Amino acid sequence: MPSGKRGRFAVGTPVLEAARQLGVYVESVCGGRATCGRCQVSVQEGNFAKHKIVSANDHLSPIGPKERRYAEVRDLPEGRRLSCSALIKGDLVIDVPQDTVINAQVVRKAADERVIARDTAVHMCYVEVEEPDMHKPSGDLDRLKAALAADWKYDNLEVDFHIIPQVQSILRKGEWKVTAAIHRDHEGDRPRLIALYPGLKNEAYGIACDIGSTTIAMHLSSLLSGRTVASAGASNPQIRFGEDLMSRVSYVMMNPDGRGAMTNAVREALNGLIDKVCAQGGVSRQDILDAVFVGNPIMHHLFLGIDPTELGGAPFALAVSGAVHLTATEVGLPMNAGTRVYMLPCIAGHVGADAAAATLAEGPHRQDEMMLLVDIGTNAEIVLGNRNRVVAASSPTGPAFEGAEISSGQRAAPGAIERVRIDPSTLEPRYRVIGIEPWSDEPGFEDAAAAVGVTGICGSAIIEVVAEMFLTGIISEDGVVDGSMTARSPRILQNGRTYSYLLRDGEPRISVTQNDVRAIQLAKAALYAGVKLLMDKQGISHVDRIGLAGAFGTFIDPKYAMVLGLIPDCALDKVKAVGNAAGTGARMALLNRGHRREIEETVSRIEKIETALESKFQEHFVYAMALPNKVDAFPELSK
Ligand code: FES
Repeated sequence: MPSGKRGRFAVGTPVLEAARQLGVYVESVCGGRATCGRCQVSVQEGNFAKHKIVSANDHLSPIGPKERRYAEVRDLPEGRRLSCSALIKGDLVIDVPQDTVINAQVVRKAADERVIARDTAVHMCYVEVEEPDMHKPSGDLDRLKAALAADWKYDNLEVDFHIIPQVQSILRKGEWKVTAAIHRDHEGDRPRLIALYPGLKNEAYGIACDIGSTTIAMHLSSLLSGRTVASAGASNPQIRFGEDLMSRVSYVMMNPDGRGAMTNAVREALNGLIDKVCAQGGVSRQDILDAVFVGNPIMHHLFLGIDPTELGGAPFALAVSGAVHLTATEVGLPMNAGTRVYMLPCIAGHVGADAAAATLAEGPHRQDEMMLLVDIGTNAEIVLGNRNRVVAASSPTGPAFEGAEISSGQRAAPGAIERVRIDPSTLEPRYRVIGIEPWSDEPGFEDAAAAVGVTGICGSAIIEVVAEMFLTGIISEDGVVDGSMTARSPRILQNGRTYSYLLRDGEPRISVTQNDVRAIQLAKAALYAGVKLLMDKQGISHVDRIGLAGAFGTFIDPKYAMVLGLIPDCALDKVKAVGNAAGTGARMALLNRGHRREIEETVSRIEKIETALESKFQEHFVYAMALPNKVDAFPELSK
C-alpha cells in the first residue's frame, strides 16, 4: 500500500526485494546493510488473511541483530521495520510511507503538503569496494564499477569525467566505502555516475523551480524522503528590461547584448535563490544533485540562453519543444559538478513548460470531467480537456489584470486595494487594502491607512470593482459608465465626454475611469474568446471544473470573475484557485521520473490551437466584450 500491488514470494524474501519485484519504489542507500534506514515500511496487522486476524509480526521475520543495532542507534519508530532486513514469512500488507522520519531536523517548511510518490532520477548507492591488489591489477574506478554492478545491478555504467580525477582520494578517504549518486532519467538509459562521496551519504537534494516573468518560486526537496525542506521566491530581475513578455523580446531585438543580459539576470536571481533555500534548509549546494525548471516559452528560452526573437511573431517557433536534459554547470548554476537539470516540454510557442507542469499537477488528462485550467498573466495560458482529449492555447490578455494600463493600477503589494464592494442603493464603496486589517468603513482603517499608505488598486480588486459597478448599474452591459448616475451619487464624475467612479476620495484619489473599464473588457474578452475556441474544439458548451493557476488566480473571487464573463459558466464550488500549480508540477517531475514520462506523453498529444489563426476568435472576442457576454448565458450566477 498505497500502490495496491500484490504478488507471491518465496518465504524468506526480504520485503525490499519483494517491493522491487512488484515495481514499487522503496528507497535504499546502504544496499540492505541496515545502516541508512531509508527503506522503512510499516506492516499492517490483521485483515489481510481473509478469514482470520493474525498479527503481522507472525508473518515477518523477527528483528535481527543488524536491524536492532539500527533501532538502538538511530531510533526506529514504533511499528516501522527496515524492509531490507525484514523477511517475508506469510501473508502481509505492507505500507510504504511516502516520507521517512529521517532528517526531520532539516524539515522547516513544507511548501505543498501534497504527497508525491518517489521514483527519483538520482539514486544514492552505498558500496564497499575491493582494495587494490598487486596481483590483480585493475583501476580504482573499475573496481568501483564492479561493486556497483554486483550490489546494485548497475552494469554498463557511464561516469562523469569530473569524478575520475577524484576517485582515488574519495575511495581512500572513505576507506573503500563510498556512496555513489547514479543518474538515470529513463529506465532504459545507461546509468551514469554523477557524484561520489566517501562513506555512507544519507542525503541528496533537488530543486524544483518555476521561472515566472514576474516572480520566481523555488523549492528544495530531499530526494530521499520527498520532503520539501525549504521554499523561497524572488522577483524576476528581467522586469527592468520590460514588464511583459513581448517587451522583453523587443529588448532582445533592439539590443545586441540584450539576450545575454537577460539570461545573466535570471541566472543570477536563481543562484541567489539557491543560496537562500540552502541556508534555510541547512543544506550544502554540493548536495543538490537534480533540478527541474519550468517557465513560459520566453522564460524557458532566456534561461537556456536561447534568443527568443522567433517567439515574438508568427509562427512562434520554439527552438526546442521537447524536454531538455542538461547539467547545472551548463546553465551557469554551480552546485555539484554532476547536478542534472531537467526542463519539462513546452506545449506550443505561447504555451510553455509552466503550463505543462500545471497540467501535470492538476491532471485534466487523468480525469473524466472536462477541466479548464487557466494561468492568467500578460498572456493567459489555457488548457482544456479530460482523459480523452486535451487542447491548449494562449490568449493575449495584456497586462491589465496585473494592474498595468489601469489609471490607479498597481501590482499586488501592501497599500493596494484588493477587495471592493459597492452598496447598490447609495453607490458608496467599501474596500479592503493589502496590509490593513479593517475594511475602509470600519474603525481603525484611517489610522492604518495613514501608516501603510493606500497606493492604488491591484488586479483582483479591478475585477471586483468593475463587476460591482456592473451589478449596481453604474456601467451598462456594454461597459459604458452611465452619466445619468451623476444624479444619484456624487461618486460618478464627469471627465469630458466620459464618466468615472470615485472609489477613494482621499490621498491619493482613486477612481475607475471609462478607459479602465475598457482595458478590463479587452483583457477579459481575449481570455474568454481563447477559452471559447477551445470549447468549440472540444465540441462542448459547458465545463465541469475550472482551475485558476498563478498568483492572480489565487486572489480573484470566482464569482466576480464569472459576473464579468472572464471564465465560462460553471458551478461555483467547482471553480478553484490551484495556486502555483506549475511549481507543484515541477516538484512532481523532480521526485518521480514517471511523472516526466507522463507529461512528455501528454504534451505530445495535446492539440495546440493558435488563436491568431482562428477566424472564430474575433467573433467570440466581440461577444465577450459585453458583460458578462452578448450571447452566452451564466445560469450558475442566478443560483
Ligand atoms: Fe538501508 Fe535498509 S536499505 S537500511
